[in-house]
Amino acid sequence: MKPMRVGLLGIGTVGGGTYAVLKRNADEIARRAGRPIEITVVADKNLELARRVTGGACRLTDDAFAVVADPEVDIIIELIGGYGVARELVLKAIEHGKHVVTANKALLAKYGNEIFAAAREKDVIVAFEAAVAGGIPIIKALREGLTANRIEWIAGIINGTTNFILTEMREKGLPFAEVLKEAQRLGYAEADPTFDVEGIDAGHKISLMSAIAFGNNVNFDKAYIEGISKLEAVDIKYAEQLGYRIKLLGITKRMPEGVELRVHPTLVPAKRLIANVEGAMNAVLVKGDAVGATLYYGKGAGAEPTASAVIADLVDVTRMHATESEHRVPYLAFQPDAVIDLPI
Ligand code: HSE
Repeated sequence: MKPMRVGLLGIGTVGGGTYAVLKRNADEIARRAGRPIEITVVADKNLELARRVTGGACRLTDDAFAVVADPEVDIIIELIGGYGVARELVLKAIEHGKHVVTANKALLAKYGNEIFAAAREKDVIVAFEAAVAGGIPIIKALREGLTANRIEWIAGIINGTTNFILTEMREKGLPFAEVLKEAQRLGYAEADPTFDVEGIDAGHKISLMSAIAFGNNVNFDKAYIEGISKLEAVDIKYAEQLGYRIKLLGITKRMPEGVELRVHPTLVPAKRLIANVEGAMNAVLVKGDAVGATLYYGKGAGAEPTASAVIADLVDVTRMHATESEHRVPYLAFQPDAVIDLPI
């Protein structure tokens, strides 16, 4: 059967993980997708790195714009990150009628409404499981597993770097700056760690989950966001003495006035499951009216956990690609004209 041809933009940590997992589990993935999925071209500025990762087994280029325009490519994986060139590439890919899989939460939080509108116009899919909570299939849980529910709220630890910092400060009494350096060394932190420590990365992720849960636009610019940079070891110590752990939570809630959207350090009773999510792990609680409270836990960052989510989207898109377009369920059930006002 004709393979689904993928153009991979960016072969850094997650790109490398995606290449490796697709190769290692190729037969199983092909069975589940209904046809083989092949990365036929990789674009990266660092061609030497691309050669090392792929062993030269596919076409390599440093011209990502040529890949998004290439008629021999069916799906684009965007793993470049940032807002600038990534936005242009994603919009160009859509213009050329290509589906897009991305892990770029910053891009979607800022330009998601524009990008999803362009995708609807062209009847292509922009899938982003890897953008929220790494390997935890939370987007699929919201879109599929919980689809019967009226979602009441979502609350989660959705930034591994800050959870790692809070854990190390509490367990080892280490100062904030020292633990942040360690998180950077371990590769958890964003290129700009301000995004992690000031709650912006968590804000991006909760805005995307909120949009799906409440069928709303992406409202990152209306979220209340406060990070952990002002916390001191003594705050964590006192919280512990009172029977609490401090966790940076992303929260979105259905309220009579609209939808709440916020990120801030929160006192969580130490006996709660979510208080015991430690290190760089992520956990998301979702409350639906039918199912009650559900909890999703796992690695929120890293090469192969994030690759797991990227490939899940590739399989999803490949399956949907096979169905007649008029019977296809929209990837997102946004109603762009039904913007719910945010009270904060
Ligand atoms: N910097 C992010 C985190 C990476 O620490 O969770 C995954 O989105």
